[in-house]
Amino acid sequence: MERNELFDLAPVRYEDGALLFLDQTALPGAEIYEKMETAEDVWDAIRKLKVRGAPAIGVGAAYGLAVVTRGKAEDLAGYEALLRNTGEYLITSRPTAVNLAWAVRRMLRVFGEAKAAGSLGSVADAEALMLAEAEKIRLEDVAACKAMGEYGLSLLEPGMGILTHCNAGTIATAKYGTCLAPIYLGQERGYGFRVFADETRPLLQGARLTSWELSRAGVDVTLICDNMASIVMKNGWIDAVVVGCDRMARNGDGANKIGTSGVAILAKEYGIPFYMYVPTSTIDLDTPTGDDIHIELRDGDEIRTMWYEKPMAPEGVKTYNPSFDVTPAKYITAVITEKGIARPPYTESLAAIMKGGAE
Ligand code: MRU
Repeated sequence: MERNELFDLAPVRYEDGALLFLDQTALPGAEIYEKMETAEDVWDAIRKLKVRGAPAIGVGAAYGLAVVTRGKAEDLAGYEALLRNTGEYLITSRPTAVNLAWAVRRMLRVFGEAKAAGSLGSVADAEALMLAEAEKIRLEDVAACKAMGEYGLSLLEPGMGILTHCNAGTIATAKYGTCLAPIYLGQERGYGFRVFADETRPLLQGARLTSWELSRAGVDVTLICDNMASIVMKNGWIDAVVVGCDRMARNGDGANKIGTSGVAILAKEYGIPFYMYVPTSTIDLDTPTGDDIHIELRDGDEIRTMWYEKPMAPEGVKTYNPSFDVTPAKYITAVITEKGIARPPYTESLAAIMKGGAE
């Protein structure tokens, strides 16, 4: 897969001491990298979805934390306070994707452990440790996506029609994607998949990002509006649904981009397997069920005016714009992680995965 130039477009890059985020709001029109210099830059980029997709947000936040706190403290106590305050601030940028809080808390934990072990002699030591941990998080995500690609492909057959929602591709992760990883792998191995990409209202991650990513990789992709999922299933064109996840609760309920739960319910009606790709960094055993997941609400102008040449709704009309919904575990045929494939009952299988064992 490495040879595909699409994978050179990393959402988060650290080069010559500078942190760069690919501005995903400019895609597919332009490939622009923006330099992140302050905590506000990083917060804003996450909030505005310049960097987006649960794993990419985690990687971006980890690097952001390491980079924007650098060179600002005179002693270790000052550095620790800055690190903790900046981490807590970054977490507030988006509430649903658990990878954000997971990555920040991991950075703070690693700092705390090194401090307790007496291995931090100076602020420079601590800064180097934080940068190294961010890189570790990035590399672990690359490996996780690669593994999910292999596990995921084992569930698919050559020539299948596959429906996906939102974008859980290479730019939503450190590399390869979660649910698009098996598609890329299949492409390389001559599987000849036919992919249908939901456009994914209101922010169009499916139209702007998934259909762009897949076309660039030479995958046969057809863009459809969200309300066309049922007809393509009824037509017999879909053999499997693959989606990503922003936070999976202990019982297997999974929050993902708004509209995912409707696709899952349709898939069940048409007898189509529904696969959710969930790296372990997205599994949150501290959240008992989907009802306990905080769903991000966004500005109504994303529905009223965004993307249109002129407003497509009366000015000031009330809106409801949840960014995610929760797919109940009962609609999820299998959960693909980097440690293996979990099947229902998820309370048991996810706990086993998190301990290291899997199918
Ligand atoms: O609002 P977004 O674009 O960050 O939402 C992204 C999704 O819902 C993805 O499907 C999910 O994060 C998985 S990305 C590998």
